[in-house]
Order: sequence, then C-alpha cells, then structure tokens
Amino acid sequence: MSASIRPMRVADIERVTVLEARIFKDAWSAPMFDAELTAPHRAWFVAEEAGEVVGYGGVGVFAATDAHLMNLAVDESLRGRGIGRRLLASISGAAAAMGASRITLEVRPSSTAAIALYESEGFAHAGTRPGYYDDEDALIMWGELSPPAEIILAIESSCDETAAAIMRGGTELLANVVSSQIDFHARFGGVVPEIASRKHTEAIVGVIDEAMEQAATALGKERFEFADLDAVAVTYGPGLVGALVVGVAYAKGLAMGAGLPLVGVNHLEGHIFANVFADAEVAPPLIALVVSGGHTSLVHMPEWGVYRTLGETLDDATGEAFDKVAKVLGLEYPGGPILSRLAETGDPAAINFPRAMLHSGDYAFSLSGLKTAVINHIRHEREAGREIDVPDLAASFQAAVIDVQIAKAVRAVTETQATSFCLAGGVAANPALREALRAAIEPLGVHVSVPPLHLCTDNAAMIAAAAHYRYWRGDRLGLDAEPLPGLRLDTE
Ligand code: KG4
Ligand code: ZN
Repeated sequence: MSASIRPMRVADIERVTVLEARIFKDAWSAPMFDAELTAPHRAWFVAEEAGEVVGYGGVGVFAATDAHLMNLAVDESLRGRGIGRRLLASISGAAAAMGASRITLEVRPSSTAAIALYESEGFAHAGTRPGYYDDEDALIMWGELSPPAEIILAIESSCDETAAAIMRGGTELLANVVSSQIDFHARFGGVVPEIASRKHTEAIVGVIDEAMEQAATALGKERFEFADLDAVAVTYGPGLVGALVVGVAYAKGLAMGAGLPLVGVNHLEGHIFANVFADAEVAPPLIALVVSGGHTSLVHMPEWGVYRTLGETLDDATGEAFDKVAKVLGLEYPGGPILSRLAETGDPAAINFPRAMLHSGDYAFSLSGLKTAVINHIRHEREAGREIDVPDLAASFQAAVIDVQIAKAVRAVTETQATSFCLAGGVAANPALREALRAAIEPLGVHVSVPPLHLCTDNAAMIAAAAHYRYWRGDRLGLDAEPLPGLRLDTE
C-alpha cells in the first residue's frame, strides 16, 4: 500500500502531535500546529495510509522568494519507503506555487537519514545554527526550487459554455477552447437547463480533442496524449446541475482511465483566477467583486485558497438585471453587452434610479428594486406615449448599478486592508464598471486588476489557473464526487 499526500486539517492535529512527541525531543505542541494552519503563506501536508496519518510536514514562504521548511517527519516504522520524499515534493511544489525560488531548513546533525534525503534532493549545507535545539546545534541547508511545470487539463461546463484548457505551471496556456451554446438559448431569452445539458454532452468530446490538438501544436509535438498530463481539473459547482454533471463525469472518467489526480474547482474561484492568470501582480490579501449572470458578491481572499464572502445579492444578480432590463426593451439575449454598448452614448444622470442598499452599512446588494424601477419607468413612458431614449435609460440604469458596487468595493478594500482588487465574472466586461472601479480604487494605493475581455465570460483557462494552486496544495476530488449546484466559495 502506498501513502497518499493531502493537506493537513485541524482534525489531524491530535494524531500529528502524538507522532511529533514520539519523534522529536523538543516537540511542537498542538497549539503550535493549530497556529500554523491559519497562519499566512503556509502549506501543511500529511501522508495518510490505511486511514492513519503516518507523516507530516509544512512550509512557510516569508521573504517573497524564500521558503522555510518548518517541519517534516515520518512514523519511525514506515521510513525508507519514500514517504518523506513525497511529502518534501508536495512542500517544494507548494512553496514554488506560492512564488518561492529557494527553500531553507534546519536539521539535527544526528538525523542522518533526513540529511541524506535533503542532499539527494539537491540541498546544500550552509553552516550551523549553534544551540538551535536543546541538546544540539542545527545544520542549515538550502535548496533551489524549480518553477512548477505541471500540465493540467481543465474542463468547464457549469452554464452555457463547454470549455477546455491546458495549462503548464499555472501560467503558460497551451490550449484554450470555448464552445458557446448561446445561440441555442437566445430564442428562449435565457439559458434553458435541459438544452444546456444536451449541448454539453454533444460538445465535450470535440472540445477536449481540439484542446489536445492545440497543446500538441503549442509544444511542437506530433501528438499530445492524456499520459502527458499531470492532473485533470473540473468545475464542480456552482451552476446548473445537468450542465455541471457533463464536465464532472468526463473529468472523473478521464482521471480514472488515465490514472490522473482529479482537482475540483469552484466556478467563482475560477473567475477570480482569470485575474491571477492574466496579471502577475495580483496577490492576496485581495478583494474580488464577482459579477455575473448568476452571482454578485464581494469576496475576501486573505490568503491563497482562503475565501470569505463579505456579502452578496439578496435577489437578482447583476448580469441578470442587465439581461432583464434589456429584455423589456426588446433587445436580444444576453442583453448585458448590448445595453452596456447603448449606455456609452447615453447620459447617466438623465434618470435618477434608486441606489438600493447604498447606505446599508454592509456588503449586501439588491438589484430587483432597481430592475423594477427601470421596467416601471419604461411602462410609464410608453403609456404616456413618449419615446424612450434608450441610451439615456441604459446609462442611468448602469450608473445606479455601478454607484452601489463602487461604494461597497471601496469599503471592502479599506476595511480588510487588501492590497489587490479584482473584478471578475461576465459583467467584468462592462467598460464603465471597469473604468469606475479603477478610478475609485487605484488612488487608495491598491492594485486593480480587470481581466482581459476573452477571460471575463466563462472559459476553462481560469479554471486551470485556479486548479494550479489547488493541485500544489494537494486538494483532490474523490472519484465519487458529485457536482454541487449550490457550492459555496467560503472556506471557513
Ligand atoms: O460569467 P458569465 O459568462 O456567466 C455566468 O456565470 O453567469 O456572465 C454572463 C453575464 C450575462 O448576464 C451577460 O449579460 C453579462 O454577464 N454581461 C454584461 C456585459 N457583458 C456580459 N453585463 C453588462 N455589461 C457587459 N458589457
Ligand atoms: Zn461564470
């Protein structure tokens, strides 16, 4: 049997502390491990065999490019089987994924097996730290970390886009294919779940084949095979269950058939990672405003992989409000982009629409009142026999939406002291919103990122970028995983 490596959880601490006390003279206590699990820039892993934790280790990234191996230990009776080496590989990969280029550690001169492991992994001796342990000096060692170069195939099928992307090392896009079904839904004025599911089923094999061909071309190879992949990633929620299940079933089959690890990604996390992928300066602590056809939320990401939703819409999503207003005006689905183009020539001050929840003192949004006010205005004008100035109406509606979102976004970055701000989701393509957020947030000294337009709407490149971090953190989805239409982003 071989041990599996996974992230350490709070529930592991009791067992880890028992091992630690047995292995080391000046052992770490449970509160020390507990503090590590919530500390910034850390990654902790355990090795598990037959349901029992048999090894553990962790790393911290401190001076941006320098990682420190905090601890690494394997049950005495299971040594010599490569468990320590595999824990070290996860630790090194996580440190590199967090941006470190080298790693240091202290080790007891009497731990000859550990020293041999580090030496064989390329660590070099760099002096001693006198009196580091109660009864011994410490040897200091340094190792170089290679940039992560794992190749991940990511699949996205949560709504009306069937998409696949292949990415190397979290930054290099080898393939990016998006097959939109929007035309099949347009005549119904919205996404029809049954049609979405059927169209994903029809499209998925072709989309993946095309991604594999693009990757072959990008790598200058005759063929790119599933065996060339290191992992398969998939959006497993939130979204339409009948749509998600197509991607999840394909990903599970591929993971099982090709013997690859399966990484699950939250769709909203994907939208946030469109920014991380496109803009190397984006880093936690960050605030993301996620605005799409199904979501409107302000998310705080204090650390890589840690999410806290500060607030969200109580009713309609932003894209949904754009689409519904557009529908009443007789515009085609999806009306958001059309309405935003019309707004460009309109006067945002022409009609004073309500700014719901502007002063609510929290991060909640409400868009249905605004939508109703706009629809009532249109009816009222029509009944009075007056011509509606559509650009003025579009601009005034858009301004009401943007005012509230700016005010809450500014408050969120100020209150959390975030250093980056990301706009994410389909509505991130809205030029007025992009511009207004930049103008409001950049003067606060916060880095503002808006994704390139082709990464705003649903795609799998953003899923691959999010999967890169999950992959190196050791997050895995079991082959019994189900799609979760209501999946939450929050980690605590
Ligand atoms: O993220 P996305 O592709 O799908 C969901 O996960 O919902 O977002 C699509 C939504 C649609 O409601 C669409 O009308 C809206 O994004 N949208 C826009 C603009 N471009 C797309 N809304 C306002 N202005 C735009 N320029
Ligand atoms: Zn989306």
